[in-house]
Amino acid sequence: MADAVGNKASKDYGVGVPPPDSGGFPIKGAGHLDWGMQHRLAQMFSPASGNTVMLAFDHGYIMGPTSGLERLDLVIPPLAPYVNVLMGTRGAFKTCVPPTVQKPICLRSTYDTSVLFEDMTVGGGIAIDMENAVAMDAVAVAVQTFIGSAGEARSLELLARTVDAGTKAGIPTLGVVAVGKDMARTEQFFLLATRMLAENGAHVVKSYYCDGFEHVTHACPVPIVIAGGKKLPESEALTMAYRAINEGARGVDMGRNIFQADDPNAMAQAVGKVVHEAFTDKRAYEFYLDVKS
Ligand code: R5P
Repeated sequence: MADAVGNKASKDYGVGVPPPDSGGFPIKGAGHLDWGMQHRLAQMFSPASGNTVMLAFDHGYIMGPTSGLERLDLVIPPLAPYVNVLMGTRGAFKTCVPPTVQKPICLRSTYDTSVLFEDMTVGGGIAIDMENAVAMDAVAVAVQTFIGSAGEARSLELLARTVDAGTKAGIPTLGVVAVGKDMARTEQFFLLATRMLAENGAHVVKSYYCDGFEHVTHACPVPIVIAGGKKLPESEALTMAYRAINEGARGVDMGRNIFQADDPNAMAQAVGKVVHEAFTDKRAYEFYLDVKS
């Protein structure tokens, strides 16, 4: 077994060197996947930019009715035109998102403990199996993982089993890096966690932005999308998205910084300008102010 003690520190991330050729398929690390899996990934990532804006609205699965998501039925459908993928729970989709909203969906496929629980990093279990994810027409399923925390081993097991089932069904798995409240959001942590998820089979990894993020994206052999985290002023959230994209993220899976914005629809569009149209953060913020009602 590899021994962490005495390991040489990693340093050469090949920044600026493109990833290996994916056999003409434009998504990092996905060149050898089957047609169905590639077809679903191609619905997640824009063919033009290669990037994605995912709207995360799965917060209620552990937090209850978060600010901005008190009424999913009123908030989510109007935002759908401005994003590439909707990411939520089975219950949220079935009750609050009409199937006529023609937008690819990523289903959160694991449950976790609520915010009332003393240690949320113990993790949970499977909330929806692959057969039912297929029935929901999901283009991806999301598994929460707890690297460095109590639920690490259990969540990696859930990730691996989900990747196995998804491979048979042609559904890619989004591995989500959770950060416990006592853990530092450092380059070293995200290097470790994102790489572990990719090597354990995740086809896309959701992480947070951090200093040294360029190393994180280059060391991870699959696309990374960033979560937004707690609500920031709109200009700062756009700066975070801009930096992440410029440092190698292939998109965002953002929630609160969109649906808690003063104008969620304008914010979703402004984030899209950064992610897909190479807007600077400053230009995207000006766009936000122009569009904001
Ligand atoms: C992740 O565990 C959460 O459920 C959200 O999907 C994630 O945190 C993204 O949302 P936000 O941008 O609000 O952090």
